Amino acid sequence: MNKGEMLYEGKAKQVFATENPEEVIVKFKDDATAFNAQKRGSFDLKGEMNNAITTLIFEYLQEKGIPTHFIKQLNEREQLVRKVSIIPLEMVVRNYAAGSMAQRLGVEEGVKSPVTIFDICYKKDELGDPLINDYHAIFLGAATKEELDEMYALTNKINELLKELFDKMNIILVDFKIELGKTSDGKIILADEISPDTCRLWDKDTMKKLDKDRFRRDLGEVTEAYVEIYERLKKVLGK
Ligand code: C5P
Repeated sequence: MNKGEMLYEGKAKQVFATENPEEVIVKFKDDATAFNAQKRGSFDLKGEMNNAITTLIFEYLQEKGIPTHFIKQLNEREQLVRKVSIIPLEMVVRNYAAGSMAQRLGVEEGVKSPVTIFDICYKKDELGDPLINDYHAIFLGAATKEELDEMYALTNKINELLKELFDKMNIILVDFKIELGKTSDGKIILADEISPDTCRLWDKDTMKKLDKDRFRRDLGEVTEAYVEIYERLKKVLGK
C-alpha cells in the first residue's frame, strides 16, 4: 500500500491518497484539542488507541449491517478506508444529559433522557461548529430532507448497536458524535471515527469518565482511560 500525498490534515487525523482513487489512508495523531481548539495537548498512545478502537467498533457495526468507510487496519496508526465526501454535519446522539446540552439547558450531567436526543452541528471551524436544525441544514445545502431522514435512521441504528456493545463492557454510552460521508455513487455511509475522543463513556459501577473529558477537564489518567476502553472492547468482542 503506497501512501501518496497528504490530502487533508485535521486536529487529530491526517488523510493520504493511495494509488486507488476510491481509497484513502487515515492516520491517527496523538494530538488532542478541545473547546474549538482553544485547548491543545498531546498524549501517548492516543493515536494508536483511537485507531485500534475505531477498527474494532467499525468492524462490529459492519458485521451488524451498518455501511461504513472502513476497509482494514494497516498498522498501529493507520487504516485504509473508502474515500467519501464528508457531509458537513456532526450527528450527535445523547442518551443522558452531559456536556454542552447540560450547560445549555441548565440541567445536571448524568440525567437519563426518556427519549434519544439527536443534535446536528454544522461543521465549520470558523463558526465553532454551531448547533443547527434540519431547516438550517437544508438551507445550507448540507443535506436534503430525504437525506436527513436517512441519516437520522442510520444514526439511530448505530446508537442502538453501540448501547448494546458498551453495556456488555459495563459502560454507559452517555453521548457521541459521528460523521457520515457520501460515496462516489451517492450512498451515505459511516465515516470518520468512533473512539473515546468522540463519545462520553462512563463506568457503570464507579461512574468514572473513560473518555476525552479526562483531557478537557484536566482529570488526569487520560491514556489509561483509552487503554481501559480498548481492553474491555477486545474482551467483549473476543479479540
Ligand atoms: O460537546 P458536546 O457535549 O455537545 O458533545 C457531545 C458528544 O459529541 C460528546 O461525546 C463529544 O465527545 C462529541 N463531540 C465530538 N466532536 C465535536 C463535538 C462533540 O466528538 N466536535
